[in-house]
Amino acid sequence: MKKLIIINGPNLNLLGKREPNIYGSLTFMEFFDATKKKYPQVSLEHFQSNIEGELIDKLQEVGFNYDGVILNAAAYTHTSVGIGDAVKAIETPVIEVHISNTFAREEFRHKSFISQNAKGVILGFGLQSYELAIQSFIN
Ligand code: DQA
Repeated sequence: MKKLIIINGPNLNLLGKREPNIYGSLTFMEFFDATKKKYPQVSLEHFQSNIEGELIDKLQEVGFNYDGVILNAAAYTHTSVGIGDAVKAIETPVIEVHISNTFAREEFRHKSFISQNAKGVILGFGLQSYELAIQSFIN
């Protein structure tokens, strides 16, 4: 069974109540529980932190023994050389995802330190962005 993990960065613990016009009104755990049931053929885990170093620790921990990482580094996407370097350092392929279309938003969201070392990037499909990444790892 493939081992996948969704790693979520800062403020994504507030999904459902944070700017619902941009990020939707479902909580991440509601989405995650439904998605786990929908894809019983994979082992799907979830980790969230608001702390940059904890995200790097988790990438290092899973990055040599999982089959795929689905990473929404949230605001750190646009600022963190450290998370970008961790994505480069590990062996597990990483798909970068975003709920919103970051290119349709402020210019500071157009830069990503992750994309150049990601297997691919999926953005702008709401929470479905995560699901498309799962499907890509399954195929
Ligand atoms: C986000 C986009 C980021 O620019 C933002 O800082 C987030 C969420 C998204 O999923 O759309 O926190 O990564």
